[in-house]
Amino acid sequence: MAARLLFSLLLILLVGSHGAFASVQETCAKAMKGSEHKNLESFCVTTLQAAPGSASADAKGLAVIATNLTLANYTAAVATIKELQRRGGWSDKQQAALATCRRRYIEALNVVHSAVHALATGRKQAYVAEMGAVRRSAIDCDDAFGGRGGDDAFGGRGGDAAAKPGEAPLRKVNDDAENLTTMAMLIVITL
Ligand SMILES: *[C@@H]1O[C@H](CO)[C@@H](O)[C@H](O)[C@H]1NC(C)=O
Ligand SMILES: *[C@@H]1O[C@H](CO)[C@@H](O)[C@H](O)[C@H]1NC(C)=O
Ligand SMILES: *[C@@H]1O[C@H](CO)[C@@H](O)[C@H](O)[C@H]1NC(C)=O
Repeated sequence: MAARLLFSLLLILLVGSHGAFASVQETCAKAMKGSEHKNLESFCVTTLQAAPGSASADAKGLAVIATNLTLANYTAAVATIKELQRRGGWSDKQQAALATCRRRYIEALNVVHSAVHALATGRKQAYVAEMGAVRRSAIDCDDAFGGRGGDDAFGGRGGDAAAKPGEAPLRKVNDDAENLTTMAMLIVITL
C-alpha cells in the first residue's frame, strides 16, 4: 500500500535525522520568529510535544513529524467530510460546499504525499510550494462555507439549533489543517 510505503519513508527519514538535538520550544520559536504567524508558536509547541518521538528529534526530525501530522490530519478531514455527507440534513448550498471540501481535501492529500518526498530528497522550495497548495485546500473549503465570519445562511447545519450561527461545520477542521500546514512549512524554511 502507498500509505504503508509513505509511513516507512517517514520513519526512515526520522531515524536518519539524528543530528543535533533541537528542543521543540527552540524549533517553534525559530520557525515563527519574524513571520506573521507568531500566534502559532504555542500551537506548534503543544502539537509537537504531543507527538511521539519529538523529544529526541532534531529540527529536521520535527519537520518530518509536523508533515506526518499534517498527513494524518488531512486523512482524518476526508473521513469527517464523508461522515457529514452521510449524515445528511444539509441545504443545497451546504451540500455543494461539502462536495467542494471533499474534492479539495482529497486533492490536498495527494500533494502532501509529494511534499513528503520533497522533504525526503531535500527539495525545500518544492516542499514549501506544495504545502502552500495543501494549505490552500483548507482555505478553499472554508470559503466554500462562506469563509471566516461569512454569512450565517451558510453556517450551521440546517435546522440544527445547536450549531452556532456563522459556525461552518468544518471550521475547526479547516483551522487545524491550515495551522498545521503553516507550522510545518515554517519549520522547513528554517532548516
Ligand atoms: C506518522 O504518523 C503515524 C500515525 O498517523 C504513526 O503511526 C507513525 O509512527 C508516524 N511516523 C513518524 C515518522 O512520525
Ligand atoms: C488535527 O490537528 C489538530 C492540531 O494538532 C488536532 O487538535 C486534531 O485533533 C487533529 N485532528 C485529527 C482528526 O487528527
Ligand atoms: C488557527 O488558525 C486560525 C485562523 O487561520 C485561528 O483563528 C486559530 O486561532 C488558530 N488556532 C490555533 C490553535 O492557533
